[in-house]
Parts: sequence; structure tokens; C-alpha cells
Amino acid sequence: MRSRLDGPLRPWPKTVRLRMAVSCLDRASSSRCSSAGRREPSQGSHHRAVAGTDPVVRPVAVANLPPVNLTDRLRGARLVAALTGAGISTASGVPDYRGPDGVWTRDPGAMTAFTVENFMADAAVRRKFWRGWLGHAVWQAQPNAAHRALADLDRQGAAVRVLTQNVDGLHQRAGLAARKVLELHGTLRTTRCAGCPARFPTSEVLARVERGDDDPACPACAGILQPDIVLFGQLLDGDVLGRARRVAAASEVFLAVGSSLQVEPAASLCAVAARAGATLVVVNRDPTPYDAIAAFVLRDDIETVVPELCAAVTGTRLRPT
Ligand SMILES: NC(=O)c1ccc[n+]([C@@H]2O[C@H](COP(=O)([O-])OP(=O)(O)OC[C@H]3O[C@@H](n4cnc5c(N)ncnc54)[C@H](O)[C@@H]3O)[C@@H](O)[C@H]2O)c1
Ligand SMILES: [Zn+2]
Repeated sequence: MRSRLDGPLRPWPKTVRLRMAVSCLDRASSSRCSSAGRREPSQGSHHRAVAGTDPVVRPVAVANLPPVNLTDRLRGARLVAALTGAGISTASGVPDYRGPDGVWTRDPGAMTAFTVENFMADAAVRRKFWRGWLGHAVWQAQPNAAHRALADLDRQGAAVRVLTQNVDGLHQRAGLAARKVLELHGTLRTTRCAGCPARFPTSEVLARVERGDDDPACPACAGILQPDIVLFGQLLDGDVLGRARRVAAASEVFLAVGSSLQVEPAASLCAVAARAGATLVVVNRDPTPYDAIAAFVLRDDIETVVPELCAAVTGTRLRPT
């Protein structure tokens, strides 16, 4: 079910720039989709940067909270939510979009294939889009240590719920039950028709593309096919988003992992969690618009840090300091 209230997914239109003026917490109260835009985190007087004091993980910035030890805050948490983005899968060989080697960083024009207007209006855009998925690294990718650590934590310690912006299915392949993974932006596994309810495995559609049918049409109604992912300008599934908000609000620890946090409404789940009292930990190499409200910001490699964070929840020390 798609919610009209939730509005279309957007990269960074004019309305976004206007909304940059409000705080992250204020932004979370809106259910309209937008982008958080490109912004360095504000370092207001109540936000302090302190040296890491934790022996296992190294907070590089602590905001809004007393400088307590991060492992103390994680130990024993019963519900851990992880909002994951493309950065959790780069160690699996799947490029992100906005990182230094990101697809859109290297080719800003590639983003045009991901707006619904362009995709529906222009066969050349669709051909480029489908050719891009054919032979894409995502089909060969295996889960990495970060995916596995979250799945293991759910088996061994806390209840883990993953709210993912990714469409690669790697959390489930790492062993996390499908019902515990909320795919906010859909999945590449299946492809749907824009003109009728037909759905197909994407592998079948890609086989047609490989045979030269590079703007594949629906065999039932000749409508336009698109993978079951949310393009910019399309609506998120309102049911999935509602469940994600409830998980964020109920979580004790909320990890934002490998996301530039520039795409709304997914990014605002950080604010939902922080407002409800969760310990918000941002793990990302680059600054994000939500760093300023995070309890801890870790700029290390995800595949190293996430297993350490998960170990901290169960009280296991992974490596000597
Ligand atoms: N794997 C996938 O399924 C995949 C891949 C690319 C894009 N996407 C989609 O595109 C959109 C992109 O937004 P996004 O915020 O998820 O990604 P993004 O590309 O905007 O940001 C990724 C962030 O991860 C950081 N990062 C990358 N590798 C890292 C590592 N090993 N350690 C630490 N930090 C690392 C980068 O610095 C960057 O800030 C999402 O909506 C997602 O649906 C999905
Ligand atoms: Zn159809």
C-alpha cells in the first residue's frame, strides 16, 4: 500500500533547500519526502567534539549528551535498529552513489535515470538504466562482516531490525530473517509493470535485456517495466515506512550505517529514534546532516566498526586495545 501522505521521493529540489532551515528533529515530524540536501552538520554551542574515550570503538564527536562511554550505552540493549545505506555494501563490491568513488560522484548525469519522470518518458533513459543493471556488481556481491554482524547479533543477543535503503538483499543473505528487514526503497529482486499488476523476477527481465531487448515491455500489457525500487518522484510504501517509524521509536540503540542521510523520508528515521530516546550512533565516513543530533559519530570503516558495535551490545570484546 502506498501512502499519499508520504509524497514522492526526491533528490534535492527547491523545497528541500527551504526545509534545510529546520532542525533535524523538526524535519522528522513531516511525512513528506525530500532530500536533506548537501550540508555540513551544524556545530552549535551545545554540540561538542571530544576525543574518543572508549577502548573498543572511537567516537570522534559527541553531541547533546554527557561524554559517556559508548560501549556502556550499547551493552545490554534489547532492541537495536540499523538504518543502512549503500555504504554498508561497498565492502561487498557494490558501489555507493555519493561516496568518493560513488556512481553519481563519478557520473552526475547517471542520476537522471533514477527520476520517474525521465524513466517513464524516455526510452533512451530506460535503455541506459537496464544496461547499467546488466552485469552490475550487485548480482555477484556477498554479504560482508557488517551484514553478518547484525544478523549474528539478532541470533545471539538483541533483537535487530534493519531499516534499509538498499535494494541488494544482502542483509537477508547474511542470515537476518526477511521479516526483520524493512526495505524502504524496495528491492532489485523483482520487476513490476507500470501499466498492470504483473510482476516478474528481475533475472528474467535481465535475460531479455541480454538478448538485445534493452527496453523490455510487459508481456501482458506492453507497459513499461521497472525494478521494484523507488525512483525519485515515486512514493515509498506507506506500510513499510510506518513500521520503520515504529521500530525507530521503540529502539534503544539506533545505528545509522553507511548512508549520506540525504534522502528523505528514510534519513529522518534518525530523528524519530533520537526524539524517542534511542542512542543514535552514526557510522559513516563522510559527514551527514544528522551528525549534530547523534550521541556518537564514528567515521571508521563500516566493516570494522559495525562488528565492534554489535560485540559491545553483547559485552564481547573483539580485539585488544
Ligand atoms: N547496495 C545498494 O543496494 C545500493 C547501492 C547504491 C545506491 N543505493 C540506493 O541509493 C540511495 C543512496 O543513498 P545512501 O545514503 O544509501 O548512499 P550514499 O551513496 O548517498 O552514501 C553512502 C555513504 O556511505 C559512506 N561509505 C561508503 N563506504 C563506506 C565504508 N566502507 N565505511 C564507511 N563509510 C562508507 C560514503 O562516504 C557515503 O557517505 C539509497 O536510497 C539506496 O536505495 C543502494
Ligand atoms: Zn503490464
